[in-house]
Amino acid sequence: MITDIKKAIVTGASSGIGKAISESLVEKGWTVYGIGRDFSKCCEADQRQKACELQSTEEAENRMIEIVCDITDTQKLTKTIKELNKAHDISLLINNAGVGYYGLHEELNPKKIASMVRTNFEAPMVLTNLLLRDLKKNHGTIINVSSITAEKTNPHGCAYGATKAGLTSFSHSLFEEARKYGVRVINIEPDMTATSLYRNADFTADDEENARILPQEVADAVIFAIEQRNGLVMTDITIRPQLHRIKKK
Ligand SMILES: NC(=O)c1ccc[n+]([C@@H]2O[C@H](COP(=O)([O-])OP(=O)(O)OC[C@H]3O[C@@H](n4cnc5c(N)ncnc54)[C@H](OP(=O)(O)O)[C@@H]3O)[C@@H](O)[C@H]2O)c1
Repeated sequence: MITDIKKAIVTGASSGIGKAISESLVEKGWTVYGIGRDFSKCCEADQRQKACELQSTEEAENRMIEIVCDITDTQKLTKTIKELNKAHDISLLINNAGVGYYGLHEELNPKKIASMVRTNFEAPMVLTNLLLRDLKKNHGTIINVSSITAEKTNPHGCAYGATKAGLTSFSHSLFEEARKYGVRVINIEPDMTATSLYRNADFTADDEENARILPQEVADAVIFAIEQRNGLVMTDITIRPQLHRIKKK
């Protein structure tokens, strides 16, 4: 079930999977504090259409609060989260923001490696650290958007896959640590999803329906997981398209 206090923090809410999750939560009555660096790339027409499905545009806007923050700026992130947490009873944290650089490992550079480690792995642990005491009080939920790469070997994506394997490991240990306090920890591992994640790669998700997932389908899994009854936790969700295929750019 969804707890009475329906306030969520979603990182990476400005595009792709995080945007779809945020919109689905708003539709379900949640107030979402969505974090991203640039919300201007959100498709306005899409936003308007979604908003029309709600009782009023104003209602939707009031429940989707965009917070501009680079989650690798730990000082700013800490200040932002502490202020949010002080003012609101947050009961859902979705660590979704992520970045990917691909190719032979020697072709990356320290900046790209640091960006992946800090965005995909460090920031979720920092956010969890900042919110966990209150999530325990609220019997809240933490959802980590990891990746199918966490389960595989990832030539041409060694560092990206390693950050996701770290995040999955964190999810599993955190669940064991926090379960007796009523905190649900849910680790989601999507396969190739049609988003802009592959902007830095020479490949992307295939156009064929059976070879890629849609961001909304990941959002639907999130809603399904959080709507389970108290006492039941879907600790791991893997979402894969039927076909294993990528599209070369
Ligand atoms: N697409 C896939 O095939 C796939 C598969 C498995 C897992 N995933 C995971 O799903 C998650 C969402 O990715 P996506 O596919 O939806 O890609 P996306 O469209 O590129 O979204 C990534 C999101 O992360 C945010 N972000 C990145 N760096 C940030 C930073 N330093 N501070 C704040 N926000 C930051 C971006 O917002 P700004 O640019 O506005 O900062 C954006 O909203 C990622 O963790 C990704 O690893 C994706």
